Amino acid sequence: MRKPFIAANWKMHKNVAESVDFVNQIKGQLPDPAKVEVGIAPQAFALYSMAQAAGKSGLKIIAQNAAAEYNGPFTGELSLRGLRDLGTDYVMLGHIERRRLFGEDNETVNRKVNAALQMGITPIICTDETMVQKEVNGEIHYVFQQLMSVLRGVSLDQIRNVVISYEPSWAVGAGQHANVALAEEGCRTIRRTIADNYTYEIADKIRILYGGSVNPDNIKELMAKPDIDGVLIGRASLDVDNFLKMVNYM
Ligand code: G3H
Repeated sequence: MRKPFIAANWKMHKNVAESVDFVNQIKGQLPDPAKVEVGIAPQAFALYSMAQAAGKSGLKIIAQNAAAEYNGPFTGELSLRGLRDLGTDYVMLGHIERRRLFGEDNETVNRKVNAALQMGITPIICTDETMVQKEVNGEIHYVFQQLMSVLRGVSLDQIRNVVISYEPSWAVGAGQHANVALAEEGCRTIRRTIADNYTYEIADKIRILYGGSVNPDNIKELMAKPDIDGVLIGRASLDVDNFLKMVNYM
């Protein structure tokens, strides 16, 4: 049985005080962490205070990005070593906004994935696909290429510790309603890709999240799909009431 995972990606929203206040408001109302995993990815400067505020509530602390390098002359970058010291549980890698706005390619994401695994921080590997790409190239082929490129060098043992998110560009921050059938199709294709390239047993256990215009109105339908194990939520996760409503659907 795959444990459901609901993750908030706050992107470049909320300062430290707002982030901590949010955690203080929700932490007494979180589900049993043995049954549902709840995580938040705040801005980097709020990670430590949020981890302190979360205490033993079971709330998972997620970094939005990290550098592939251990340390060195990389001005402005965020090291995995430092994230580990802060008690960060997960790191999102290859989010579509990193690709689209900051030029990250598969090779960079792949180096980050391997570095995170070595550092013992579980990566949430983001894969995306647009409807256009699907029509041109065929969905299976594209997802296979992107996912397998970023997983290069990830062993059978390591893949067990990875979370994958499927965030098609047509749904991320676009204001469009998530298309539940296409969301499930994308997640199913990713699971099949893992089965083909690793094992069926691993594919059956790996968690695949869907992200893109998830909100309290569509989360139930999304979570009812067999290959969607959780959600990665942007805009709708910024409000405490909305977020708790969605947590309660998990
Ligand atoms: O990481 C989250 C995704 O970018 C989704 O963002 O829920 O605002 O569409 P959104």
